[in-house]
Parts: sequence; C-alpha cells; structure tokens
Amino acid sequence: MKKLIAGNWKMNGSIQKNALLIQGIIKGIEAEPNLLSACDFAVFPPFVFIPSINKEIKNAAGKIILGAQDCSAFDAGAYTGEVSPLMLKETGCTHVILGHSERRQYHGETDELISRKAQAANKAGLITVICVGETLEEREAGEAQKIVGRQLSSSIPETATAENTIIAYEPVWAIGTGKTATPDDAQAMHGFIRKKLNEQLEDSQKLRILYGGSMKPENAKDLLAAPDIDGGLIGGASLQVADFLSIGRAAL
Ligand code: PGA
Repeated sequence: MKKLIAGNWKMNGSIQKNALLIQGIIKGIEAEPNLLSACDFAVFPPFVFIPSINKEIKNAAGKIILGAQDCSAFDAGAYTGEVSPLMLKETGCTHVILGHSERRQYHGETDELISRKAQAANKAGLITVICVGETLEEREAGEAQKIVGRQLSSSIPETATAENTIIAYEPVWAIGTGKTATPDDAQAMHGFIRKKLNEQLEDSQKLRILYGGSMKPENAKDLLAAPDIDGGLIGGASLQVADFLSIGRAAL
C-alpha cells in the first residue's frame, strides 16, 4: 500500500509562515518526483488558511492532499463557531481529521460525537482520519488494546468504508512529547487495529492505518517499515519543510 505522510499543523503558523511552508513542501516534492511514487502527502492546516493553501496546491497541479483538523456533525445552521463538512469540501478539502486526542481531551469529544461527525463527513464526500490511542495510565494498566478497541467500535460510523476512512493510531503519551512507540509496540497495536477492523468493515486490508506521536526523520524509517503502518500523522515535524520531506524519503 502506498504510504500517506500527513502533516497535522494544529493551531500553528500565520498567513505568511504557512504559505512558506506549503511552498517549500511543493518545491521539495517537485524536485524529487520519486517521492510521490512512494507516498502521498497531505496537509491539515487551521481552518482559516485552507482557501489560501488550496490555491497553492492547485497551482502545483494538486500534488498534495488537503484536509481540515475537525468538522461539525451538522450540515448547516445555528451552530456558532462550527464549520460543516460541506464547507470544507467547497473550499478544497478532501479529508478531515476527527477525534484527535487533543479534541477528546480539551474539548470533551466523545466516541459518539466523533462517530456523528464522521458520518456527516462521509455524507459530504470527505475521507475521515479517525484518531484513536491510549493514555500512559491506560497503557501501564495493560488496557491499551481495550481502550483502542472501544474507540474503534464506537467512533467509526456505519457509513465508513476502507475507501472513505483512515485510522490514525496516536498513543497520547507519544504526542508532542518526544517519546515514540517502538516499531514493535506500534506494529503490535496496528496489527490489533487491522484485526478489529476486519470485524467492522469489508476490505479492511485496503484501509490505511497511520502512526502518530513524535514521528520524526530519525525514527520514521523503522516505523514505516512495519507491515501494518501505512503512513504517519505528523505534528511538530510537519512544520519544518526539511523534516517533513525527510519523513517522506523514509518511505522510499
Ligand atoms: P507530534 O503530533 O508529531 O507533534 O507528536 C502528532 C499528532 O498529534 O498528530
């Protein structure tokens, strides 16, 4: 399966910084066309930058996938502060991250809400990147698989297929901490996720499962070599052109 190297920009940057970032990524990819034969690249900027980033991507013949970091569970209406999946689609997104642990943790998102958001996103024709992952306490209590299993069965809606859904396994203790799951630990969880998805979806072999949590140029090669790791969801290292491209190179 072709790897997906996805940059979750979180709430970072500015008009100017993000323009430079996307221009640098595009320039790098154009200079090394073999990168695109090994992997797809995606960026997930903050909402307000989506139209301008879309313009840059379009000018580069759409070589990069564009997505948002969240969406509403509703199509339109009196939901102050929300952005609907249809709006994302109209502004050039094809993908949307849902249920990131930062949204679960700081915004009280539940599996049930994530499932409704994913359903609305699928209905609008978006591909969802549904995030799952255990906390350190849960891992130490030997409950990692139980937690991830519950998140999978409760946050993936009935509209999900192997084509319109991507799973990102992001152990909470590895996000932004510099601590990474070992390739063996990550593979063990990815293998478990694949098995669990077999019970929920048809063709789950075709579904991409990304690893996220302090992925960087130094550890990307070993992680991406694991059989059930189909790419990375990258935060910090996706904000540096050289690091992001170098993670792509690790997929070659
Ligand atoms: P990180 O973030 O790469 O900075 O750990 C990953 C993520 O939260 O998606």
